Order: sequence, then structure tokens, then C-alpha cells
Amino acid sequence: MKKYKVGFTTGVFDLFHVGHLNLLERCKAQCDYLIVAVCGDDYVTQIKHKQPVYPEADRIRIIGALKCVDEVSTITIEEVDDKMKALERFHFDVLFSGDDWKGSERYNRTEEQFAKYGVSIEYLPYTQGISTTDIKERMKYA
Ligand code: CTP
Repeated sequence: MKKYKVGFTTGVFDLFHVGHLNLLERCKAQCDYLIVAVCGDDYVTQIKHKQPVYPEADRIRIIGALKCVDEVSTITIEEVDDKMKALERFHFDVLFSGDDWKGSERYNRTEEQFAKYGVSIEYLPYTQGISTTDIKERMKYA
């Protein structure tokens, strides 16, 4: 029996790589049903000030095809910023997030808000040595 029923995580997942796979497999190892919300192209351009290489429709298809993912969805910029809004829509028991967010003011606040509803946050290790940004850099010299 797994620790949680419904797990939730979110991200851009552009140029899908093994760091993304590690994260999603670690999420699924802790929950029966994993929902992954893929950030839209508007989030990437407006918040990250980058252009996605793969458009959101393609990123959603790739994530949805993984056996460790039970449900894939889009997510609004407001829901990314305010995880209570994401909780209202997706009704998860646990939010999985990268451990680089642990102890931040934003996540400490979210932990307090979630605790009232019995919802947890689990921080998962970031896979060192690979990222979408890193792949783009490497491609320049390939
Ligand atoms: N992630 C991870 N290990 C990596 C890269 C990403 O665990 N090496 C996780 C992030 O913590 C996040 C999810 O994968 O929970 C989606 O991350 P995303 O920002 O889409 O991927 P990056 O490769 O980090 O993209 P970028 O370089 O544009 O920030």
C-alpha cells in the first residue's frame, strides 16, 4: 500500500529528459494515482521569459503517455502561483515538489494552508547534471 492516494505535481517538462522521468517515477512510487499538470506556453513566456521548444500540446501528449502518470492536465498561471487554487481543482492528498523549494517562504505558507485540509507536501531530490536549460546550451555546441 502506498503512502498517498492522489498525488499531484506540476512543471513545464520541455525537452523531456531523465531528470523529469526520475521525478515522475519518484512521485508515482508514493501515490496510487498521479496527476501531472503541465504549465502552458503562456506560463513559459510570461513567467520564465523563455520560448518553449515543444508546444504545450506536445508536452501534454508526452507526459500523458508515461506509465507512471495516471492523468495529465493543463494548469493556469494563477494555479501555479497559488497552490490552494490547484488544490481546489485537483483534490490531491500530496503535492510533490523539487527540494530546492523546501524552506522557502512561499512553500512554508503553502504547507500551513494545506495542513488545514490534511494535505502534505513531499520534497523530492532534483537530478543533478541535467535540465532543459542545460540541454539547450549543449545543443548550441553539438
Ligand atoms: N526536475 C528534476 N530534476 C531535473 C530537472 C527537473 O527533478 N534535473 C523536476 C523539477 O524539480 C520539476 C519538474 O522536474 O519538479 C519539471 O521541471 P522543469 O522546470 O520543467 O525542468 P527543467 O529541466 O529544470 O527546466 P529548466 O531548465 O527550463 O528550468
